[in-house]
Amino acid sequence: MSDMVDGGKRNPEITTVVPRRSFLNFLLGATIIVAIGGVMNTVLRFLWPTEEIIGGGKAAGTTSLPLSEIPVGGAKTVRHKGKPYVVIRQATKVYAVNAACTHLACIVYWDRSIKQLACPCHAAFFDLNGNVISGPAPNPLPTAEVKVAGDQIVIS
Ligand code: FES
Repeated sequence: MSDMVDGGKRNPEITTVVPRRSFLNFLLGATIIVAIGGVMNTVLRFLWPTEEIIGGGKAAGTTSLPLSEIPVGGAKTVRHKGKPYVVIRQATKVYAVNAACTHLACIVYWDRSIKQLACPCHAAFFDLNGNVISGPAPNPLPTAEVKVAGDQIVIS
């Protein structure tokens, strides 16, 4: 029996019922898709952060940031000449190392506990000068020149 009456109008006495199981399956599927999307977004933004996340200067000759932003022993990732750099402050020197791993370009981070740059993707490790310590990275990480001028770190 059709739920239409003459003239193509819907018969108000006949309604389409969506079975509860179908509705719950739809809700479960939608929830799973949203959850997977959220996790993938987080993972991708961690591995390939946008400029808003990294912060720092634009693609220019030098990049500067206040010395007070990095405590001794700490590090911060900034954008320098359009590329991510990990700036590491030690007691006597500040280092700037390109953060794009030379294996597959994941973003490395400063592991303060072992005093090495670590790649989260395939466990490559680098020293403060970007040299490969271990892992699959074929080449050292490029470095930039760093000066401390007054209360500013200047990367060139
Ligand atoms: S991308 Fe860094 S070790 Fe593979």
